[in-house]
Amino acid sequence: MRQISPGSPERITMKDDMARYLVTGCAGFIGSWIIETLLEKLAGTGDTVRGLDNFETGKRENFAHLEGLFEFVECDLRDAAATAAACEGVDYIFHTAALPSVPRSVKDPRTSHEANIDGTFNLLEGARAAGVKRVVYSASSSAYGNQPGFPRVETMVPMPIAPYPVQKLMGEFYMKSYWQVYGLETVCLRYFNIFGPRQVPDSQYSGVMARFTLQMMRGERPTIFGDGEQGRDFTYVANAVMANLLAMKAAPENVAGKVFNVACGERHTLNKTFHVLADLLEFKEQPVYGPIRAGDIRDSLADISAARDAFGYEPDVSFEEGLRRTVAWYKEQYAAETTTR
Ligand code: UD1
Repeated sequence: MRQISPGSPERITMKDDMARYLVTGCAGFIGSWIIETLLEKLAGTGDTVRGLDNFETGKRENFAHLEGLFEFVECDLRDAAATAAACEGVDYIFHTAALPSVPRSVKDPRTSHEANIDGTFNLLEGARAAGVKRVVYSASSSAYGNQPGFPRVETMVPMPIAPYPVQKLMGEFYMKSYWQVYGLETVCLRYFNIFGPRQVPDSQYSGVMARFTLQMMRGERPTIFGDGEQGRDFTYVANAVMANLLAMKAAPENVAGKVFNVACGERHTLNKTFHVLADLLEFKEQPVYGPIRAGDIRDSLADISAARDAFGYEPDVSFEEGLRRTVAWYKEQYAAETTTR
């Protein structure tokens, strides 16, 4: 259908060319930021967005302020028929839905296996049937494991340790397979410890940055597992969102069937991170040290040149600036609770 806007002939909108996006995990930490940024970028273009979540770890409040701007479908990716229906009419998918956390997968590998592997497979099958053009998949840097050699480059042979990185890596292999076999353009983004506003801070499976922030705000001493000298390439969430949008728009020859690190290219130890957070939050106590967590990797540090070259990725928000924004957000969110103490 061709729709002609009143007034200027330049404003002809080709309805058939309008793009339809799906964000899986749109109530989650990273997915909700992707859908929010996508809606901002697409405003006025006529492109449409659908979001999907099962609220197992995501929260409706993460997108409540966007309701009415996109179509929300409550759906669990383990339900193949519902997932296929959610893919109908879609051109582009950001696949962030997952049951995250290395320790959760160590404790209960079957549940995370079903969510992460079966869920991703069902999504790809739905995408294939619906004629989706591209899927950008949230993969994990934990796939590198504990092999020697830093920084991590995408050409290294993956050596995942815990079930969660195995599951995320299986998703990558499926993505590559669907590109090679069915011509569905897929791009895998290996995230390195994404942090920022909306990351759940109060679960035993919370990411360390969110967990430490809330603990310090509550006056509780955080526990560092191990000696605290393990390093992570902590990456502010806006950088990951930008990587997703750029990867979705990049020329197929640059990205289809490929894997990219998404990080800052810096390693920060947990001890250092603890002290930066403590300064920001004026927390005076020392951490408690506990045993090393089963399934953990020791270090992570990314080479991000492949993403730079392929789609112009840059980590625009630094570690320090990301921490400041994150702390400011948690202070606002938890102000009532922490001021009444
Ligand atoms: C994180 C992500 C994972 C992602 C991976 C990519 C989370 C919850 N997990 O895994 O989805 O695929 O990065 O690299 O965001 N730690 C403490 N005390 C705590 C909690 C954690 O010392 O209270 C330590 C852990 O033992 C680990 C480090 O902090 O050494 C990071 O742990 P965590 O935030 O859970 O992330 P990863 O396991 O690296």
